[in-house]
Amino acid sequence: MTEIETLERDLSAKIDAATTEAALEELRVGALGKKGVISQQMKTLGKMSPEERKEMGPALNGLKDRVAAAIDAKKTELEDAALEARLASEQIDVTLPVRPSPKGKIHPVSQVFEEITAIFSAMGFDVAEGPDIEDDFHNFTALNFPPDHPAREIHDTFFLEPKEDGERMVLRTHTSPVQIRTMKSKKPPIRIIIPGRTFRCDSDQTHTPMFHQVEGLVIDKETHMGHLKGTLEAFVKTFFEIDDVKTRFRPHFFPFTEPSAEMDIGYERVGKEIRFGQGSDWMEILGCGMVHPNVLTNCGLDPDEYQGFAFGMGVDRLAMLKYGIPDLRDFFAADARWLEHYGFDPLDQPNLATGLSR
Ligand code: DAH
Repeated sequence: MTEIETLERDLSAKIDAATTEAALEELRVGALGKKGVISQQMKTLGKMSPEERKEMGPALNGLKDRVAAAIDAKKTELEDAALEARLASEQIDVTLPVRPSPKGKIHPVSQVFEEITAIFSAMGFDVAEGPDIEDDFHNFTALNFPPDHPAREIHDTFFLEPKEDGERMVLRTHTSPVQIRTMKSKKPPIRIIIPGRTFRCDSDQTHTPMFHQVEGLVIDKETHMGHLKGTLEAFVKTFFEIDDVKTRFRPHFFPFTEPSAEMDIGYERVGKEIRFGQGSDWMEILGCGMVHPNVLTNCGLDPDEYQGFAFGMGVDRLAMLKYGIPDLRDFFAADARWLEHYGFDPLDQPNLATGLSR
């Protein structure tokens, strides 16, 4: 085997075995670069006799061309393999679904709780809570319902089985007992709202055995009926998201407030739609009044020093009115289609800066 054949075999084996482009480049420089083995051999041609050169010249040129071609071919092969590997690693599955929008909706009752909380928080109210199962004292007696007084019967109360001592607990019929709990445990000034569940034995299109209320309580030294009216008027404007709301306070009776009132807002019916704010009809939306001195005394507060106002509203009712929902019972039917229609986007948190309900 000639020297040239040996060199060719050796170079071919090395080119075949190269696994990276860098290794291949090293081989190219080693063979065909200025100081490469083949280039060195070419330089010896000048010193050869004309016969020798005639033979070696074409042989070396042939070798040079074949080695260069082999290196090129191997280079293309390595580049193709690298591209394949990159394509495989960067593969995207275009059949995957697009990023899903959040699933599920916020129930109108939760939405309205959030809206009311946002409004009263901005006015400096805290949120207070209390138990669903109450004793007679907090639900009635401390709120100035005298024993055996017919006022107790205006609430269709759910009673629990009597305890050993004969006491019967109740499912709270309103959120007002949390007024008592707060006044007994906290020194005035008090500014709270009390969102919560309430229970009465009643069921029709606008009543369900479980419903929701938000109670408000303000106790301080110089709180008066003007503060009550101003607070509630500001509330309804913000809540219904209309600037011009007609309101009216009508005298009423509640055992725990004196004087007591119900607040109505103006509305008109246009076709099937109810429009709030103006119009010649009135709709009652809440009860309110100045906290009765007996209630203050029952909580250990001196009525000559402290006074305040309270209010209570039905949250389900407010949700029905604001969002045009015709039947209260649907609120509790757990029908996903209903919730899809009347519910709210979980990412749209009610707030006064960007809007309550959007
Ligand atoms: N507790 C009353 C009810 O359930 C609502 C209410 C009326 C609450 C007047 C109050 C108030 O705090 O002052 O019907």
